[in-house]
Amino acid sequence: MRPSAFGATPTLAAMHAEIDRILIDRSAIATRVAQMGSAIASDLERACGADRLVVVPVMTGALVFAADLVRTLPMRLRLELLEASSYPGQSTVSQGVTLGAGPRTDLSGSHVLILDDIFDSGRTLAAVRELVLARAPASVRTAVLLSKRVSRSVAMRPDYVGFEVPDEFVVGYGLDYDGWYRNLPDIAVLRQPVP
Ligand code: IMP
Ligand code: MG
Repeated sequence: MRPSAFGATPTLAAMHAEIDRILIDRSAIATRVAQMGSAIASDLERACGADRLVVVPVMTGALVFAADLVRTLPMRLRLELLEASSYPGQSTVSQGVTLGAGPRTDLSGSHVLILDDIFDSGRTLAAVRELVLARAPASVRTAVLLSKRVSRSVAMRPDYVGFEVPDEFVVGYGLDYDGWYRNLPDIAVLRQPVP
């Protein structure tokens, strides 16, 4: 968000001026995240021995989703953050994936759950999954809160999807535009062109 007529500090009014509409509200998100947590927990309980679950949230978009989801998983787990970026600055079109160094700990023999905010072209999650697979884990699962209704060239699909969303640029609940809006509790469509 740019500094606006409201002054250099972005205000709630300025924030709302850039939002077209709320797509998924906070209570629907909470309900769905809890359902996803139950499904993931029952799958993992069967597959996963004690102390072998590593959750890898893709930063920064998965931060809020991961914070809520891991608290629904009633098992010992470790968190390993991984940085990825494909929409630097004010872009609303993917500029290609740049991945950070990835988990520092040894993943061999671990069951890994990769979390991301949104599955769009699929290139980010596919690249992260390849990076994790190269570390010889016992298993890899992927979960995304959102999946856009688009045609894709990548073959992989997430194992768990919270909501299907239209092909529009969305913000909130961790998703950003130019670094802003991650703290919005709902998922909203950004006005286009951005005012
Ligand atoms: P993909 O590689 O095209 O699947 O893009 C996935 C990444 O791009 C996600 O990790 C998001 O951080 C970001 N992204 C994709 N679509 C949106 C959007 O509509 N709003 C905000 N970020 C998005
Ligand atoms: Mg991301």
